[in-house]
Amino acid sequence: MKVFVKRNSGFQEFEVPRHPSQTVLDVVTYIQRSLDPTLAYRYACRVGMCGSCAMTVNGVPRWTCRTHVDRVVRNDALEVGPLKNLPVIRDLVTDMREFFDKWARARGQFAGERTKRDDFHKVKPSSSDRVQVDSNIECIGCGVCYAACDVVAWNPDYLGPAALNRAWTLVKDERDSLKTERLRAVAGDAGCHSCHTHMSCTERCPKHLSPTAGIAGLKRETAKALLKGEL
Ligand code: SF4
Ligand code: SF4
Ligand code: FES
Repeated sequence: MKVFVKRNSGFQEFEVPRHPSQTVLDVVTYIQRSLDPTLAYRYACRVGMCGSCAMTVNGVPRWTCRTHVDRVVRNDALEVGPLKNLPVIRDLVTDMREFFDKWARARGQFAGERTKRDDFHKVKPSSSDRVQVDSNIECIGCGVCYAACDVVAWNPDYLGPAALNRAWTLVKDERDSLKTERLRAVAGDAGCHSCHTHMSCTERCPKHLSPTAGIAGLKRETAKALLKGEL
């Protein structure tokens, strides 16, 4: 199989043998270990837990450890590049700082009021707020949705699906005390109202989460807060 890998200098072609159940991460690892040890890439768990192996495969952002070559190969060829919408450090490795800085801009840090001397706050699994974020809290911050979002490509200031999804989970967290500040942080030009509801993030999320639904929830909550004069 021919594999075209994006290097800092442009695409480089490699010949890689096929084998059953081979993943795209296996292919990249084979190239780095057997053909060119200077190839830079990132991975950790190899089992779909950490999200660090995310790359662009034939134009689509994916977790490479969970992508079998058989599913994506075209004409016995593969093209592998770094995630889009992020600065590249080297070859297939992107700089995630901007991505996580946006989580901070969206007030993505939990702000509780209890101290270690207080009892645990017990959230009822059946409460309406908890049910609304039941899947969204499973986000592991891999950046696949961010790389799939056209609005991020057009407007680099846009907070993006993952940061907004994080804000949504905290807005619905009854233990959190910064709801209004958080809604203010996501209500601006670069926030939830810039989402065009294209659903690319939701289509691509390897965990089958729906940042789009969370963003729609933020649109509703910010509109309500605005009408109440809170923003
Ligand atoms: S929403 Fe999905 S694709 Fe986006 S960062 Fe979280 S786990 Fe990754
Ligand atoms: S639904 Fe919104 S956040 Fe998701 S990809 Fe589309 S524009 Fe981006
Ligand atoms: S290496 Fe952890 S998800 Fe792929």
